Amino acid sequence: MNNSSIADLRTVSKKYTMGESEVFALKGLQLRIERKEYIAIMGPSGSGKSTLLNILGGIDIPSGGEVYLDGKRIDNLSEKALLEARRKTVTYIFQEARLLSSLSALENVLLPLAFRNSGSAGSKAKERARLMLEKVGLGKRAYHLPHQLSGGEAQRVSIARALMCDPLLILADEPTGNLDTKTGEEIMSLFGQLNSEGLTIVMVTHDPQKASHAKRIIRLRDGEVVEDSYNHKYGVCAVD
Ligand SMILES: Nc1ncnc2c1ncn2[C@@H]1O[C@H](COP(=O)(O)OP(=O)(O)O)[C@@H](O)[C@H]1O
Ligand SMILES: [Mg+2]
Repeated sequence: MNNSSIADLRTVSKKYTMGESEVFALKGLQLRIERKEYIAIMGPSGSGKSTLLNILGGIDIPSGGEVYLDGKRIDNLSEKALLEARRKTVTYIFQEARLLSSLSALENVLLPLAFRNSGSAGSKAKERARLMLEKVGLGKRAYHLPHQLSGGEAQRVSIARALMCDPLLILADEPTGNLDTKTGEEIMSLFGQLNSEGLTIVMVTHDPQKASHAKRIIRLRDGEVVEDSYNHKYGVCAVD
């Protein structure tokens, strides 16, 4: 059993240089995320939310500080080692489902494993893909093409695809930003279910209603954490 935090950012900064000017997207951020947490990241546009998610997921490298993922330092790894560290740990869900239009729902879900499996491993992967589609409530949509799915269904396919590699941590950047309120709520209850099954979720949202599903709410402004509190709905107290 691994007792370390699932993610730990220590004095993380991120500087972007645009010609002569420099932008600090993150300024000495300290953030520890424990296993099985469900966190909403809020804050105005440009406050560093996506940068934070990208650094947590090892997609972006910080300019300063240290990043630990599942107990392993990842900010100083080679590209290959970083890929390997990410592969088993973390997955991303975007605002758009990003499905391949010529593939069925099932084939889209299979994609993360498609290049690794053939023969009996392939049929195992297919079985798992079906299971993941059932988990997100789309067992009956396996052979639908993306254009035959609603926006909410497409997003659920992308969640099933994200679950294929059995991640510990889901990073979601405004996952309901393109969906109507009711469909967005359905995705939120799916996240709640996944979290209760043990997945750690970090979700960026502008919407206080969506954020209220999370157990901890972190607010950013100008690349700094300005609020970090636990959701009273779950009966825990705010932290310092
Ligand atoms: N690739 C980039 N190049 C230059 N500046 C960037 C880049 N990505 C983000 N920024 C800047 O960093 C700041 C934070 O951006 P971002 O993390 O995307 O904010 P948010 O997701 O909260 O809207 C913004 O000022 C943005 O303009
Ligand atoms: Mg953003």
